[in-house]
Amino acid sequence: MSGKNPAIAKKTWSNRWTFMLAAAGSAIGLGNIWKFPYITGEYGGGAFVLIYLICIAVMGIPLLMAETAIGRNTRLSPLNGIKKLTGELGVSRLWQVIGWMGMLSGFLILSFYSVIAGWSLSYAWDLLTGVFHGMNPARVSGEFSGLMASAPRQIMWHTAFMLITLFITARGIHKGLEKGLQVMMPALFLLLLIMLGYSMLETGQFMRGLDFMFSIDFSRLTAAAIPAALGQAFFTLSLGMCALMAYGAYMPSSNSIARTAFSVAILDTIMAVISGLVVFPIVFAYGLEPGSGPGLLFVSLTAAFANMPMGEWFGFLFFVLVGLAALSSAISLVEPVVAWMTERVNISRTMATVLVSVAVWLVGLGTVFSFSGDFEVRFFDKNFFELVDFLTSSILLPLGGMLIAIFAGWIMKRSMIMNELALSIGLFNLWRAMTRQLFP
Ligand code: PFF
Repeated sequence: MSGKNPAIAKKTWSNRWTFMLAAAGSAIGLGNIWKFPYITGEYGGGAFVLIYLICIAVMGIPLLMAETAIGRNTRLSPLNGIKKLTGELGVSRLWQVIGWMGMLSGFLILSFYSVIAGWSLSYAWDLLTGVFHGMNPARVSGEFSGLMASAPRQIMWHTAFMLITLFITARGIHKGLEKGLQVMMPALFLLLLIMLGYSMLETGQFMRGLDFMFSIDFSRLTAAAIPAALGQAFFTLSLGMCALMAYGAYMPSSNSIARTAFSVAILDTIMAVISGLVVFPIVFAYGLEPGSGPGLLFVSLTAAFANMPMGEWFGFLFFVLVGLAALSSAISLVEPVVAWMTERVNISRTMATVLVSVAVWLVGLGTVFSFSGDFEVRFFDKNFFELVDFLTSSILLPLGGMLIAIFAGWIMKRSMIMNELALSIGLFNLWRAMTRQLFP
């Protein structure tokens, strides 16, 4: 279908800040606060961080610009947008695979994202009700194992998170998200700064944390670290799965894509680095292991919250905000599918959201069971969660990103992209050289 759905066309962000807020809301999420510290820990610190930062600068920013430009050019859902472009450009319809892969990635990522966000909600509740009061790190770690072992508890919180996502997505982006984000994002930043103050002043291990994150020791780097850093760069900026393409479709023409892309990448990186600088000093202070995997945030930070003055209140607020940061990302994960379904099969936005959410919820049970060990299925020596994470972060997102870059750099007309990006000729040529040469 090529005609614009009036319900979609009507929808542009209310002002020039909103796209940035929404894109930052999509980018900043569990990837920054939960995933970045634990994979930095797993891959040994500084050298991994360096490669990650290079990936953000040379691939992340150009691709962020490309995705947004394609979205704004077509003003359609990603799949229909690419379909329209292939028609206009007279190129193979196979390029639509970009849209299909994007929807699949969003779907799969949300299935585990919701489970982890559910842990945050569960922690917020437990901190509020005093479960962690005065616990030492070993007991906090025991509590975490208890949550992992309990499929029903995880399912309850996974369900709660999916219901909230469903509710906001179904209402459309204006009513829930725009307003919420204006409060949530600054609050998250502020709380993270308070935690940074704590880890600087109270742990006595700040320098060691700094050293772990920034002293570059290539001998600790394994070959697997490079695709992992690239995958993390894409994951954290929400790239390679058309989320920002879907949001770009609602971006007013007067916004500068380049300026927005830079700001989003910088904000996102700051949030990840601060999260690392909060987590590692606490990890060292309590003698925990930096490479301990997905539980890192939930054990180390909670041990600090359980013991600092007013820590349970801070902890409660912190995990609520982590849940909210996850929510603003989750919404962008379903947007490509939901937007496509409303255009394509002409069902209401609510109906589309319900169908997608139920399916995501079901697949998410696979992740719950891989943590609880109830039905342990293993493929290629990975459990279900590890497999979905690997498939999305290490394969689908980089591959999707590469195809999008090739499409924007080689297939689309130079003038089309130039109009959207509105850069000086020198910068435009730099952008084009990067997307044309670097990604392939
Ligand atoms: N960028 C999000 C994070 O760092 O948590 C995760 C994410 C959201 C990935 C949306 C992809 C996406 F389309």
